[in-house]
Amino acid sequence: LTGPLPRLTVIGTGYLGATHAICMAVLGYEVLGVDVDPDKIARLAAGDVPFFEPGLPEKLREALDYGRLRFTTDFDEAAAFGDVHFICVGTPQLAGSHAADLRYVESAFTELAKRIDRRALLVGKSTVPIGTAARLTTIVQEVSPAGTDLELAWNPEFLREGFAVEDTLRPDRLVFGVASDYAERALRDAFAPIIAEGTPVVVADTATAELVKVAANSFLATKISYINAMAEVCEATGADVNLLAKALSFDDRIGARFLKPGLGFGGGCLPKDIRAFRHRAEELGVGAAVRFLDEVDQINLRRRARTVDLVRELAGGSLLGVRVAALGAAFKPNSDDVRDAPALDVARMLYLEGALVSVYDPEANDNAHRLYPDLEYADTLGKCVRGAEVTVLLTEWEQFRRADPTLLGEIVAEKKIVDGRHALDATAYRRAGWEYRALGRPV
Ligand code: UGA
Repeated sequence: LTGPLPRLTVIGTGYLGATHAICMAVLGYEVLGVDVDPDKIARLAAGDVPFFEPGLPEKLREALDYGRLRFTTDFDEAAAFGDVHFICVGTPQLAGSHAADLRYVESAFTELAKRIDRRALLVGKSTVPIGTAARLTTIVQEVSPAGTDLELAWNPEFLREGFAVEDTLRPDRLVFGVASDYAERALRDAFAPIIAEGTPVVVADTATAELVKVAANSFLATKISYINAMAEVCEATGADVNLLAKALSFDDRIGARFLKPGLGFGGGCLPKDIRAFRHRAEELGVGAAVRFLDEVDQINLRRRARTVDLVRELAGGSLLGVRVAALGAAFKPNSDDVRDAPALDVARMLYLEGALVSVYDPEANDNAHRLYPDLEYADTLGKCVRGAEVTVLLTEWEQFRRADPTLLGEIVAEKKIVDGRHALDATAYRRAGWEYRALGRPV
């Protein structure tokens, strides 16, 4: 470190921003978290994390106890406080399009830049189309007061929900997209304790930094759809995709991670990121280079339809009036996030075919209910499966994995189960008298 620790602001206290602000304060920085939503700010300031993330509430209280973390809705205060400003606002999918909606990012950069009157670094962390940083640089220069030395950098974030604290404190790598030595130095200072732990740093231009993020998520999505495409082939041939994945994974060039077949990917990142990347590549005249991402998306969506098929088959050909217990709503376990959740999508498709669907998720019931109020929600696993004619596992929570097939069998009306996540012990279920079906596995 060349001088005292820089003071950090974090604009946008959603999933990414709140985690970043909290972890940086725990690491020793003075941090100011900023959001336009006064409720969010009030809850965070009171020590309450507004979403489910294991370990984060404890870290928030730790940071507040140290007195290093404060929250505000005031952009003037933010502009005066920070040496390095991290912009962590959302870039959702634009309604009616595959493009990313950049209005929050643009407004955060503009609102800050016009108020800052000293040397500072604005760092984008949000996932954006390639070329956004370059465009924002022009905007920032236009709106910032004359003579202000403002610079812009891009620092993509790779944290996973459910592991947000661990991924922020011990990331696989840091990527700094910068245009000057000053920007690189400021970022090195802003991540000094993490770099000191030996975390590799890749210093690049801003376009490369933006691309790293979408390229990484596209690769992960492709890997999942690859094994799910093989599951389709398995279904047509009587082969077993679980054994196939296991055999492939011993080749360490392929590896076991993100090779788990099942209902496929969802969440606030992978689906929208591959679509926005595809859209941006088309704009850049290189659409053909990532056209395969359309297939990745289609393979992924077909898994949802196929899961509905399996439930319908077990129900005897029609879902009309059939009582179905849907286990899980979140897009993955250890999360209450239902954005583009395959689980909830399947529950909704079953409902639309006339099934009487009861949903239970250990953490995501409330969010799911807000999104699809028409579905029925049970507040325990037992209530959810009581009287079910078909049970379908959609999110692989530990609670569902551990459930005893014999006990479950006593509550349901019919012992028929579709394992949408390859999470259950097929042999144990069959031994307990269940008809067990899973995607990509023989009957
Ligand atoms: C993903 C990336 O993993 C992070 O590196 C990235 O930072 C983040 O997006 C982001 O862009 O912010 P996340 O959305 O939290 O993280 O979830 P993942 O753990 O990647 O899971 C995504 C989906 O893929 C889930 O629905 C999961 O069930 C599914 N999945 C994952 C599979 O179907 N099979 C697998 O083998 C792995």
